[in-house]
Amino acid sequence: MTSKVLFRGNTSQPPPSDIADALARAASRLGGLGWPFIWFSEVTSTNDVLAMLADNGAAEGAVVGAEAQTAGRGRFGRVWHSPSMAGLYLSLLLRPASYAAPLVTIAAGVAVSEGIETATALQTSVKWPNDVNSGGRKIAGILAEAGTSANGLQHVVLGCGINVMPAAYPPEIAQRATSIEGELGRRVDRGAVVAECLVAFAAHYEHLRNGKQSAVLDSWRRRAAPSLGRRVEWEFKAVTRRGVAEDVDESGALLVRTDAGLERIISGEVRWI
Ligand code: BTN
Repeated sequence: MTSKVLFRGNTSQPPPSDIADALARAASRLGGLGWPFIWFSEVTSTNDVLAMLADNGAAEGAVVGAEAQTAGRGRFGRVWHSPSMAGLYLSLLLRPASYAAPLVTIAAGVAVSEGIETATALQTSVKWPNDVNSGGRKIAGILAEAGTSANGLQHVVLGCGINVMPAAYPPEIAQRATSIEGELGRRVDRGAVVAECLVAFAAHYEHLRNGKQSAVLDSWRRRAAPSLGRRVEWEFKAVTRRGVAEDVDESGALLVRTDAGLERIISGEVRWI
């Protein structure tokens, strides 16, 4: 277990009232997710705090949220810019059976896209594997981190960052990032965003647990339509490869048509060109 100081102060708080009220209204649709919902004013990374709680026996469905992160991280070790009050920084604890685990990140991307749309009416799409975009710019991202032991997979911490308000993003991401309120030009109820994303994820997670992986993949395909059929490039063994993104397979791998045939991309970064 880590000995780093993960959060300021030694007690968590209940979530702010806008989030608590929305969760209470959605309680019957949450499928047990979102309890307990633990809130901090500032943490290093909500994923780190929740991983620590998971190692200490926290149950599936627990959520850690924070107003700000000092060491928020994204995929590929990137920094996830996490200024106070501008975004939602949330992590959800799952303890999936091995057959349900492979598609949880795909399900999470779909759920966040659906949840934002239900709560705010902003149209969003997903881009493999689970970026959520609006108007061609990234509005939310997901970082899934697995906890394993000699007995195999113990838990998955599903971290989600959603840009709610426009913020002073660093120059390297400013052109590629957007926010819900920046797109809509009006304030939104961030509590409703949290609640509807959890409600949507609960439904997809239930599909995965019931062996209905195809239902999740079909939802992903509908939301990914703007990015499928488009050219992509990626690095493989220090060589840049190119092709057309066609689909995902049953494990969530991206299928890309190249001159050499259909290639499966399991992980790594794909650039849309
Ligand atoms: C990405 O690169 O697109 C994934 C970004 C994930 C950011 C979220 S914010 C809450 C959780 N805590 C982290 O440190 N990262 C995730």
